[in-house]
Amino acid sequence: MKIQTPPGMRDFYPEEMRLHNWLMDHWRGASRTFGFSEYEGPIFEFLDLYTLKSGDEIVSQLFNFEDRGGRRFAIRPEMTPTLARMVAARANALPRPIKWFSTPRMCRAEKPQRGRLREFFQWNADILGPDDPLADAEVIALAVNFLRRIGLTENEVVIRTSSRPLVSSLFATIGIAPENFGRAFELLDRRERMPAEAFEKAWTDALGHSTPVEKVIELLHGQSFESICTLAEQAGPDGLRAAEHMSAFRDALRQFGAWPYCELDLSVVRGLAYYTGIVFEIHPRNVALRALLGGGRYDDLVGMLGGPPLTGVGFGMGDVPVIELLTELGKLPELKPTLDFFVIDADATLLTKVLEIVACLRNADYSADFSYKRAALGKQLRTASTRNARYVVIVGVELAEKQEIGLKEMTSGRQEGVDAASFLADPRAVLSGMRWDGNLSEPRP
Ligand code: HAM
Repeated sequence: MKIQTPPGMRDFYPEEMRLHNWLMDHWRGASRTFGFSEYEGPIFEFLDLYTLKSGDEIVSQLFNFEDRGGRRFAIRPEMTPTLARMVAARANALPRPIKWFSTPRMCRAEKPQRGRLREFFQWNADILGPDDPLADAEVIALAVNFLRRIGLTENEVVIRTSSRPLVSSLFATIGIAPENFGRAFELLDRRERMPAEAFEKAWTDALGHSTPVEKVIELLHGQSFESICTLAEQAGPDGLRAAEHMSAFRDALRQFGAWPYCELDLSVVRGLAYYTGIVFEIHPRNVALRALLGGGRYDDLVGMLGGPPLTGVGFGMGDVPVIELLTELGKLPELKPTLDFFVIDADATLLTKVLEIVACLRNADYSADFSYKRAALGKQLRTASTRNARYVVIVGVELAEKQEIGLKEMTSGRQEGVDAASFLADPRAVLSGMRWDGNLSEPRP
């Protein structure tokens, strides 16, 4: 019986794994240059962790199960509730600000589609503690650092920034009641992914006929930063505070050098229930693909989970849409498996020496391999070449005659005889003495 990979899940063959590790290295590299520390959590959590803020509606979007004791769990669909739970448990002992990142694997019970699968990896970076727009700007600067690392320019992606309090104050000016803001955010977030009639119906069901959606769209779209701030200020002190926060956020983004990627777009409201402040998403500019990143400020989550009042801001970025976009733009890196050394022999009786050299190189932290099949020298050299070996060690007749082995640099084709005993005693010293490209004195990662 042939059993397939479950829908929306992936196998990572070595080729895909190289790409995955490349992405992970850049996620980690960017996080570390910004002073973030790595954390991890469990693959499943009590279901309540997710229903607490989002209600039972969230359950249909999760893979959940009961254990034999009847306790209900869910495979993590996102990391923010885990992060908030972990921080709440030790909030008073943790040095502030808390700047943490993680690259967890997670699952959502989604219909698999382009850029969205059921299982994916998501880079999370969050700053907890400072209620300062500088922190909102810094997480965006971190995302920009990553985009630059992987070669995505501001012509290819855009960071759409918005603010829920700013949008709320605009909602108030057109008569939407505060108790309906949450539902309005959720619906607006889904608008582009729903058929127009279904959206109209859901909107009217939730908010009635008195607040026609066209009025809201007109309010949120295509306004300049200045006109939005003026409108918000007219809406009262909350609007004024939100406008000031947004201005400081924009200034900080400029100072971090991240503004070229950003624009203000109040139609971004985010669907998750816990956001309370600035929100943002990264979208491809010219490729029809869902968001690469989503995030924002959440001020109540840690407190809700039993911790002290502690504000937070951060984002999640999925591996699936990033790889999809790089593929579409022809910007995937060429990642070949590489080897420092391939050791070959001119004759089958020399296998013992081959194995001794391979062991010596591996002990010295070089990657080294050899052929299981005893084949002609030319064939073994071709294998070394397909394995992308940088150097080939040739064990031939010179070993018996002059106690020498051959060392061949594959890129230049240069070959020299070296004393076998010296090489075995300290291959690093022999190599650095050769000065071919002088690069192999340290093993590569
Ligand atoms: P989210 O908008 O649900 O936010 O997801 C953030 C990103 O995760 C998306 O933009 C996308 O790149 C990726 N993603 C989401 N679902 C899938 C999927 N089914 N397949 C592939 N990629 C996916 C959150 O998860 C928030 N917890 C982010 C956050 C962290 N907010 C504050 N801190």
